[in-house]
Formats: sequence, C-alpha cells, structure tokens
Amino acid sequence: MENQVDEIKQKLNIIDVINRYIPLKKRGRHHIACCPFHGEKTPSFTVSEELQIFKCFGCGKAGDVFTFLEEYEKIDFREALTELAQMAGVVLIKSENITFEEKKKKLLIEINNEVAKFYNYILTSHQIGESALKYVLDRGITLETIKKFKMGFAPQNSQLISNYLFKKGFKLADLIATGTFGQSKYGSNQLYDRFQDRLIFPLADYRDHILGFSGRILPTSKNPNLAKYINSPETEIYHKSRMLFGLNLAKEAIRANNSVIIVEGEFDMISPYQLGVQNIVAVKGTAFTQEQLQLLRRYTDTLILGLDSDFAGNNAAKKSIELADSLEFDIKVLTLGDKYKDPDEAIKADPEFFKSQLKNTIPVWDFIIQSVSKNNDSSTIKGKKEILSNVLPFLVKISNSVIRSDYFKKLADEINSSEESVYEEAKRYLPGQKTNFVPTQKPETIPDSPRIEKFEELLLTLIFGSKKPSTLAKKLENHLKNITNNQYKVMIKTLLDQTEFEPRVYQEQLPAELRSIFQNIYLNATALQIDSHTRLEEIKKTVNQIETITLKDQIKAASEKISKLESSKNEEELAEAEKEYIQLLSNLSQLQTKK
Ligand code: CTP
Ligand code: MN
Repeated sequence: MENQVDEIKQKLNIIDVINRYIPLKKRGRHHIACCPFHGEKTPSFTVSEELQIFKCFGCGKAGDVFTFLEEYEKIDFREALTELAQMAGVVLIKSENITFEEKKKKLLIEINNEVAKFYNYILTSHQIGESALKYVLDRGITLETIKKFKMGFAPQNSQLISNYLFKKGFKLADLIATGTFGQSKYGSNQLYDRFQDRLIFPLADYRDHILGFSGRILPTSKNPNLAKYINSPETEIYHKSRMLFGLNLAKEAIRANNSVIIVEGEFDMISPYQLGVQNIVAVKGTAFTQEQLQLLRRYTDTLILGLDSDFAGNNAAKKSIELADSLEFDIKVLTLGDKYKDPDEAIKADPEFFKSQLKNTIPVWDFIIQSVSKNNDSSTIKGKKEILSNVLPFLVKISNSVIRSDYFKKLADEINSSEESVYEEAKRYLPGQKTNFVPTQKPETIPDSPRIEKFEELLLTLIFGSKKPSTLAKKLENHLKNITNNQYKVMIKTLLDQTEFEPRVYQEQLPAELRSIFQNIYLNATALQIDSHTRLEEIKKTVNQIETITLKDQIKAASEKISKLESSKNEEELAEAEKEYIQLLSNLSQLQTKK
C-alpha cells in the first residue's frame, strides 16, 4: 500500500491535480488561488510544485495531493486513494480490510438502491402507482425518462416496502439510518416510510450512488397541507449542501458544453434533459453552496443560472453568486421573460422559446442591473437610491477589478450619474479594507515563541528564498553560529552540508519531525518576492536584530551577576564582571551604529 501511494505521488503533479478543482495562477515559484477551504477574496492558498504540497496562509490547511482530495471532496483516505490511482493510471492491489465506515456507507447505498427499485416498480408496474404515473405522464415526462431517473412512487401503506426490505435481510437500524424510514413506535419493529404517498426522485451523486430521495406530493393527495416537496434528512451519506440533482446523468454533457445550467427543481432539470438540453442540474432551491460549486468546477467554469427571476433579491442567492465569482466562474443568466414561472413550464408551453433563450444568456451583472432598474424609476431620487442599494452590493464583490469598473460605468449610465459618484457610493458597501497577500505564518501557530526565534525564522526565510541558499548560508556562517533555536540549528547545519540546494533533496536529508517546519518556512520564503539587494539589506538588519537581542540578554544577565557579587563582596570577581559588562555595552553600541 505504502509503495502504491508513493507511486501515485510520483506520477501525479499536484499542480495538475488541484487545477482540476480550482483554477491556479502562477505567482513566482508558486501557484496560488483563493482558498477552497475558507471564504476569501485575496488568494492565500499556495501550491508548491517543487515540494508537491499546498498550504493556505489564511486558514492554515496544508498537505499533499491526498490531503487535498480528502478535504476538498470530503472523502476518506481510501476513497482519495482510489480516485488518485485512477488519475495516475495506477492499478491498486486489492485489499480486503475496508473500514467499518466504508462498509456502512456501502450498505446504505445498497438499501437505497433496493428502495428505489421498489418505488420504481410501484410507479411503473403496479396498480397502486397508477394515478401517480398518470400525473407524471401528464406533465410530459416519458416512460423512458422515468426509467432513466429511476423515478418512483411510495405507497401510502409503509408495510409493503418494509416487508420487502426485511425479506431481503436488511436490519431495522440500517433501514432507519438511510433516513427514509422511522420507527412507528419506540421499541417496535414497525417502520413507517417518510415519503409515503409521494412521487419519488432518487438523489444520486456524480458516481450514480443513490444517497437519498426527494418526494413530491400529488395533487390528488388526501392531505393537501403537507409540504410540496420533502427530502431525506442529513445521514451518513446524504448531505444536502453537496447534492446536485441530475449530475450523474449530466456530467458528460457539462464537460462537452463547458457550461452547466443551474435550475431550482427536479422537473426543471428533467424537462430540459428530456428535450436534449443535458448540461443541467437542479440545486433544489434558489441558492447554491460552496460545496456544490466546487463539485461543478471539476467539469466547467461557466454557470448559466436558470433560477427564479427575482433571485437577485434573495440574500442566499446573492451569497451564492459571490461564491461563484470567487471560484472564477463565468456566470450567466437564462431569462424566460415574464411569461413562465420556471424552465419546466416554459418547455411545456414553448420548447423552441426555451432553446432560443438559452442561446441568449446574459452576464449576471447585466442581469442584476437590468432587473433592478426595471422595478424602479431611475429618473427619481428614490428610484436611484433603490437601484444603487440593490445593485452595488453585488458589483463591489466582483473579484476582477477591470470587470468591476466596467459595471460601475454601466450602473452610472443607467441612473444618469457620474462614475465618480457611483464609486463614492460603492464605498459604503465595501467589506472593509482589502489586505494584500502577505504570506505570514498564522500567529497562533507560534504563540509565545520568544522574539529572537521570530527573527531567526525570518533570517531562515530570507536565506531559503534566495537564489542559492546554501552558498548564502556559507557566507553568513559566522552569524549563523549563534542561532539559538535547536531545530533551526539542525536546518542550518543540513543546509551547510549541501553543495547545491534542491528543496526536495534537502527535505529528505532533514529529520522527519523538521520537514513540516521547513515546508512552512520554504513556502513563505518563496512566496516573498523581493529583489536580491533588498534581500541582503533585510538579512543584515535581521542579523543585527538577532545579535542585539542576544547582547541585551547577556547585558541583563551580567548586570544581575554584578548586583549579586556586590552583596557578596567578592572584589575580584566583581571587577571581572564589571569589565565584561562594559565590554558588552560597547559591543551593543557598536552594533547600534552599524544599523
Ligand atoms: N423544494 C424543496 N422543499 C420544499 C419546496 C421546494 O426541497 N418544501 C425544492 C424542490 O426541489 C423544488 C424546488 O425547491 O423542486 C423548487 O420549488 P418550487 O418552485 O416551489 O416547485 P417546483 O419546482 O415548481 O415544483 P413543481 O414543478 O413540481 O410544482
Ligand atoms: Mn415547476
């Protein structure tokens, strides 16, 4: 196993792997991006090709390709191993010891498959499902589509499905763990089906694993007060924030088109799909999450929003758009005029209209300006204010400054005002001073480390960032002798032993426990872009500071010694100590004048 991990790592370049998920930009010796693990607008997520590692200077997440995939896809090591092996073209040697957790997940998926099969049978072939089938067919969904999406119907009577599943040998606790069933009474062996009397849509992930279900009430339902749609609760396998309905069937088309249409509901995904527009998924609501976007980012960088036309007024949707922009998606909007409530209705009424609107999508920022302006009179003061306060919160968040200023211009034109005043107004919506990317170690990682250690770390950072670290270290050998931190001492000694510094070779030479300390320093070092003259100046200053602190400590110790000797009346030693004290003071003043 160990060897196969190494083999995979050797065959893959971390840059290529991470690039599949988030767009990396080259910056000096690194690649950078906005961190996928915490929200940010200025990139502090750094990937080093030399060391084949990543690190976020904002949130501190760090690791290799395996860690990245585990964190990004929220999967465990073994799942990451399977995916990376596939990417690397390495055939894994089968191993029997899959973990307990994995077994459980597999079992839940197996149960869900059986449940879907049962529901589908009821819908398509059983008398109980007759009126549900009629409802679906009346909505224009064909039998073929029903089969493709494994749609089904959950009978009113839960006994049927629970008998079926018990007969298959599944256990009560596992059936409950799928989220589909509840215990009808505490301690009883009877199950009730949460989805009873509903039309069923299996919710699958991109690998076509059924993780949960959603159920729509029928218009003929005996209880019309129930929620129109219900969904599986969060389970060990189903997480609402990661679900994209239809991705299992749409992913190839999304890649081929390099765009994905995002719609709200199941039917809004299914109808276009049946029509041949197959690069489409449903988020089951109006907003989408960072996890959903990350998943889509693997297949495309273009989003076409086919959401409810007033989504711009919805705060959650606003946040979603901001997230998508920060993941560098190109975001467009599919409009359906005012005629149709959603894509499903549009297609039912006029499929050609739907297709032609798809060819005329507009950039999301234009859409926002247009839709807000339409609802307000831009010739009145009140109207202008409304427009500004509804549009600016979006525009100030555009990450690309060129595009942002273009839209400030457009907005100024829209309300017949000057660009300057729009800029002035925009300040109110800015989320505070933007900081530039300054790679510094997280303060909490070295909380109380004495001042001298910080300067020593800085000195190492400056050395490792230079063109020839080992040559530079040799030149500075005299000053480096006084380094106090033991780990840094070992790092310096190892560096002095190299004729030519090569980061991966150097890393191998270090004791294992120092590798991550080195990686931190090295990433900081190579992200710091300064010219060699400034670097030398900084080194001089830092050496000076280290020596100053050392001297001051010695002076303090010497003066304490003197006061002790004064009370002990040991004249000879006292004179010696005073001499030493004066020497140290004069060294210090020499140092100060060198600055
Ligand atoms: N939704 C949900 N839970 C609800 C309401 C809605 O999960 N209580 C999700 C469903 O996926 C639904 C989508 O949000 O499809 C959009 O809701 P809505 O616009 O109310 O329904 P439609 O999609 O138009 O449903 P239909 O066409 O079946 O009437
Ligand atoms: Mn609808």
